[in-house]
Formats: sequence, structure tokens, C-alpha cells
Amino acid sequence: MVRIGYIVGSLSSRSINRVVAHAITRLAPPGVEFVELEYSQLPVYTPDADSDYPAVARQWKADLASVDGVIIVTAEYLRSIPGALKNALDWSSRPWGTNSFDGKPVAIAGVSPGSIGTAAAQQHLRAILGHMNAPTLGQPEVFLRFNATDFGPDGRVANPATEKLLSRFAEAAVAHVRLHTPVTVDA
Ligand SMILES: Cc1cc2nc3c(=O)[nH]c(=O)nc-3n(C[C@H](O)[C@H](O)[C@H](O)COP(=O)(O)O)c2cc1C
Repeated sequence: MVRIGYIVGSLSSRSINRVVAHAITRLAPPGVEFVELEYSQLPVYTPDADSDYPAVARQWKADLASVDGVIIVTAEYLRSIPGALKNALDWSSRPWGTNSFDGKPVAIAGVSPGSIGTAAAQQHLRAILGHMNAPTLGQPEVFLRFNATDFGPDGRVANPATEKLLSRFAEAAVAHVRLHTPVTVDA
């Protein structure tokens, strides 16, 4: 059993990225426990907090430590990632020497109504995660242009091409996490 946390890069209560994140978890192969990694209550990061991290930030880092890998499904704001997601990544990188993403396998996807389907945001996110030493999945890329009719009212994917892409992504993301998960050997 592998444990994967998913992060929705949007604080919207009607987030289309959460719809896609749930579809990915539903389409994933068996043997995976998914948990949503929640960061909406984090205050704006300041280095002043490094000497005494608030409880909510300690919980955020504990939640990250509890998973073998992460799937980030992000919105695009102004051709980058939303500020709330960047803030959560800032918290996870500190206090210095305790970077929560160091070596943590990550797979990235995103959806927007726009024509490039979060491609610009995802490139920024890759750069950030590269600096944090998180190995990121290269393919398949998921730059989805949101179409409400692609997703049924029951949350299932109604468009076969979208379902195929998200299935391939889920399979590759799980394999990527397994590849980077240390094996515990009995002494
Ligand atoms: C501040 C702001 C900036 C945005 N910038 C972009 C953008 O650069 N590219 C894009 O495709 N959509 C942009 N959008 C539209 C979002 O893609 C759209 O709101 C989408 O529903 C966000 O995903 P969510 O529903 O998961 O929150 C922007 C929306 C907001 C509120």
C-alpha cells in the first residue's frame, strides 16, 4: 500500500481542479491510499515564524511527512500558481534544513477554462519543485481545458479522451511515487 497526498491549487469552494483531483484518485490503480493535504488555514509565511512555527504549519509539515508522494492539481493565476499554493510551499520549505519536499516524488496536473490549460503555472511549479529537490513526473502532461460536460454529476469523467488521459496520468503518478519510495527491509 502506498500513501499519496493530493494538493488542490485553489481555495475555491467550487474548484474545477478539485473535480479533476477527485477524478484522478478514482481512476488510480488499486493499492493506493489518497488523502487531501489541506493548507487553507496557513497564515502568510514570514521568516519571523521560523523560531516558533505555528501549530497549523507544524501540522502541514507533518501531513507532508506522512505521505510517500504528492499529486498537485493546480489552477493558474496570472500565468503562475495561485499565491495560496506558493505560500504553502514556502511554509513547507522551512525552517531551514527541514524542506518537506526534499526527495518527495510529485506529479503535477491542472485545469482551467483558458486555452493553455495551466501550462504556464505548471512550468513555474516545476521550477519551484526542482529547487526544492522534489523529483517530478515528466509525462504525461495534463494541461486540461475545462469543459463542464466532460464530468458527470456523479463526479465521473464523461469524456472518454479525458478519462484516458487522467487514467494514464494516475497510473504514471503512482508508479513515480513507488519508484521513489524507499523499501523497508527486515533486519
Ligand atoms: C486572480 C485570477 C487569475 C487568473 N489567471 C488565469 C490565468 O493566468 N490563466 C488561466 O487559464 N486562467 C486564469 N484564471 C481563471 C481560472 O483558471 C479559473 O478561475 C479556474 O476556475 C480556477 O480554477 P479553480 O476552479 O480550481 O479555482 C484566473 C482566475 C483568477 C481568479
